[in-house]
Amino acid sequence: MKGSLLYEGKAKKVYAITDQPERLILSYKNDATAFNGKKKDQFEGKGRLNNLITSKLFDYLHQQQLPSHFIEALNDTEQVVQKTTIIPLEVVVRNVAAGSITRRLGIEEKTRFTPPIIELFYKEDELDDPLINDVHAYHLTDISEKELSFIKEQALLVNEHLIQLFKDVGLELVDFKLEFGRLKDGSIVLADEISPDTCRLWDLETGKKMDKDVFRENIGDLVETYEAILQRLEEYTCAK
Ligand code: TMP
Ligand code: ASP
Repeated sequence: MKGSLLYEGKAKKVYAITDQPERLILSYKNDATAFNGKKKDQFEGKGRLNNLITSKLFDYLHQQQLPSHFIEALNDTEQVVQKTTIIPLEVVVRNVAAGSITRRLGIEEKTRFTPPIIELFYKEDELDDPLINDVHAYHLTDISEKELSFIKEQALLVNEHLIQLFKDVGLELVDFKLEFGRLKDGSIVLADEISPDTCRLWDLETGKKMDKDVFRENIGDLVETYEAILQRLEEYTCAK
């Protein structure tokens, strides 16, 4: 049974589960924020779309023997996950230049990165989530060098699997952000969400942006766009 509200973030609420102290319920909200909360709006149906898309992607990763905190979708807007303590790092993987790297380093949008670039950001709203290096991460979080290597390996594996999955549904995986958490036994596991809020996806045929950039840049309808992503993933998983 759903227990008390433990935490509310920008996109999700986290609830305890009575009698299951090692599990949590993540409840996806309809809020959209960008630029560290400076741009805000609400979209009816967004919570459902991100919950269902994240559930499909974590299910797919499990099928590829890639573990995460995800257990199952509970209903349209909620999912059950293993309880973790989130490590305050945003692990960004980039296959193609877009977003902050174009502004920060003057790299032209669409430039390809082979091998992919991994960037670490320190998850701290008050500091605007600054870009940090590995040694900063050892100081700012409790992870060891070995654990950071593991996190990077996992992030690159997620990248390989998701590049293929999205390619199969006509999308290019440009970049994405992952978060990792620590289970009760201290081990580190992929956590949080993977959705069009946290990935950049470009239509392979038209190049059209099909992710949160439609909201960030006011260039399209967020709900229609996320609905199209869910539909493509559903058709793909039905066909398999
Ligand atoms: P960026 O280009 O703004 O650094 O974003 C890189 C990727 O990470 C992009 O797919 C969006 C995602 N992301 C988040 O999920 N949360 C964030 O807070 C930020 C800044 C980026
Ligand atoms: N999600 C972040 C925020 O709420 C940043 C972004 O994705 O642009 O500000």
